[in-house]
Amino acid sequence: MNYNNAEFYTSYGSFKQIPRSDRTEIAFSGRSNVGKSSLINKIFNRKNLARVSAVPGKTATINFYRLENLYFVDLPGYGYAKVSKSEKERWGGLIEGYLHDDRELALVFQLIDFRHAPTKDDVMMVNFLIDSEIPFVVVLTKADKLSKKQREERRSALMTELPCAEDITIIEFSAQTGEGRDDIRAIIEEIAAEDEEEKN
Ligand code: GTP
Ligand code: MG
Repeated sequence: MNYNNAEFYTSYGSFKQIPRSDRTEIAFSGRSNVGKSSLINKIFNRKNLARVSAVPGKTATINFYRLENLYFVDLPGYGYAKVSKSEKERWGGLIEGYLHDDRELALVFQLIDFRHAPTKDDVMMVNFLIDSEIPFVVVLTKADKLSKKQREERRSALMTELPCAEDITIIEFSAQTGEGRDDIRAIIEEIAAEDEEEKN
């Protein structure tokens, strides 16, 4: 795949606007500020394909990117305390609406900040993905911010903090150093290949 060819497709502010899937989708989920947009930019070799901001709550819409026959879906970050109740409800509705819909969703990359224990919302999301039988991979973000020792501590703590941790594929990632990018791309290529096969 030529990742440089990814392009912004469109964005939706309410779930009702989203048309039915016409291609296989790969989604990125995680709390606000965890690094979803940064990861998307790193995967696609771009500085500004997805908007990155130090201010949480930057991505308040569902944004679709397109590469070859796949859509990549940047979900709005959840768990940001400083927005109004009605904004929170709108975000929740968007994420839930998207994930509960009968979409051609091949995989969710569930991002969790490597530095901290998963939040309640993170654990809720992981449980939801398990219960809904949506295939997912956990990506631990901002890996560049941890020492070797901190990493080891977080790794072993996650084994008890995450439900079914031993069955989950976990990738350590840094948008700054590019660590983990090849693993994520390998998973994407697998999905693209399966998608090709299904069509033929
Ligand atoms: P929302 O759109 O609000 O949901 O946030 P997001 O998950 O898209 O996060 P975003 O990519 O905008 O990144 C948030 C902040 O974290 C920015 O200041 C990024 O520069 C920083 N950041 C993201 N990934 C990394 C990383 O791997 N390493 C470091 N050091 N900083 C990162
Ligand atoms: Mg974002």
